[in-house]
Amino acid sequence: MENNHTKRNTFTGSIGFVLAAAGSAVGLGNIWRFPYLAAKDGGGLFLVVYIALALTFGFTLLITEISIGRKTKQSPLTAYGALHKKWKGLGIISCLVPIIILPYYCAIGGWVIKYLIMYLTGNGAAAGDGYFTGFITSDAQPIIMMLIFLAAVAFIVFRGVDKGIESLSKILMPALFVLVIVITIFSLTIKHTEDGVTRTGLQGLAIYAIPNFKGITVSKFLTVVLDAMGQLFFSLSVAMGIMITYGSYVHDDANIKTSVNQIEIFDTVVAFLAGAMIIPAVYTFTGTEGMAASGPGLMFVTMPKVFMKMGKIGVFVGILFFAMVLFAALTSAVSIMEAVVSCFMDEFKLSRNKATALETAIALAAAVVVCLGYNHFYFELKLPNGATAQILDIMDYASNNILMPVVAIATCILIGWVVKPKTVIDEVERNGEKMGRKGLFVVMIKYVAPIMLVILLLTSLGVSL
Ligand code: ALA
Repeated sequence: MENNHTKRNTFTGSIGFVLAAAGSAVGLGNIWRFPYLAAKDGGGLFLVVYIALALTFGFTLLITEISIGRKTKQSPLTAYGALHKKWKGLGIISCLVPIIILPYYCAIGGWVIKYLIMYLTGNGAAAGDGYFTGFITSDAQPIIMMLIFLAAVAFIVFRGVDKGIESLSKILMPALFVLVIVITIFSLTIKHTEDGVTRTGLQGLAIYAIPNFKGITVSKFLTVVLDAMGQLFFSLSVAMGIMITYGSYVHDDANIKTSVNQIEIFDTVVAFLAGAMIIPAVYTFTGTEGMAASGPGLMFVTMPKVFMKMGKIGVFVGILFFAMVLFAALTSAVSIMEAVVSCFMDEFKLSRNKATALETAIALAAAVVVCLGYNHFYFELKLPNGATAQILDIMDYASNNILMPVVAIATCILIGWVVKPKTVIDEVERNGEKMGRKGLFVVMIKYVAPIMLVILLLTSLGVSL
């Protein structure tokens, strides 16, 4: 099934693949959504549900996508059609998802660069109240920063799978891990007294990690499960075409099962540590009210406030924090662009350079619109899930809340009922290694995952259950 128009790039080995896939998985989602959801959904309770889902639901979707990629050796746009002729349409939606995500991911990547520069040049203290709104509503700055981020992403993708993506991940992922550990240790050892009240990082850790069952009802528990599922999707980079793409670059002799386990462990550990780094710091310096922030508000408003209250050391911690976020965002954005580039290469038989140039131009045009969404193109739209949205949020909602569940549901139906789970199992076991959790996989892909995904999709559409 291999395309012969151009020799397909591959990862040089399992470590390169695992680090690149973990680099894709560990992104903004881990840092700005996971801690917030954990704090909102009963701390340790959310963690337990999340880990249980990662081992079942996450495992099922991740191993499926990587196997589809390696079996077909094609990008998502053509891989589904290669599995079954009538399912080519699913490839189109699957390729559309990273096309929609990349522009707003680059806009946010630009904001991260701006804040890193602020802290590096000693201006971190200026990033107080109102600064963020002033910055994103300004004309040129957000566009310039986005351009720098997009140029870096395009440069890596131009260089190819082994020389670009793999080499970058081999440097940035270990560096990111060290930064996460250093900041977490710092967060857990801080203490702050304000208005006669002393709070410590360890108290914040207790709020984060100890399960809170107070007032838990069946419907609240369902909310926790759905929050964890939605988070898992984005976090594991499934249903975005990425893992099919990366799977298509994996050597035939690689052990897919071991790689999937390693990717999941890396992603979950970093997500957990992001919480252990952010929640104790936010709690110690701002109390429980600061913990209600998520998304851009958490990263660009609450965290700078926390760094400011830390005094002199806050500037240094701010540098480490935004460098860490930049590494996470960059490796994820690279994987998002690569998913689209591989689709263009396979479908239109373009060279890597031409496909990258085309996707960069598309992302650039759309990212400028996203940036202008906060000034010239500003409007507010009420989404079916109740949120008030600008252009960025609408793109996030369309991809994350609608198209990704649709892709995942359709993938479950295709593998579970049309080409049968054996297609994936045979691919995982092609070198003689045992897949393990096989019964679980079959039940998940045929019944549990699609049903849960339909519930998730309906909730996103505002249907109250
Ligand atoms: N998986 C990436 C993230 O969490 C896209 O941001």
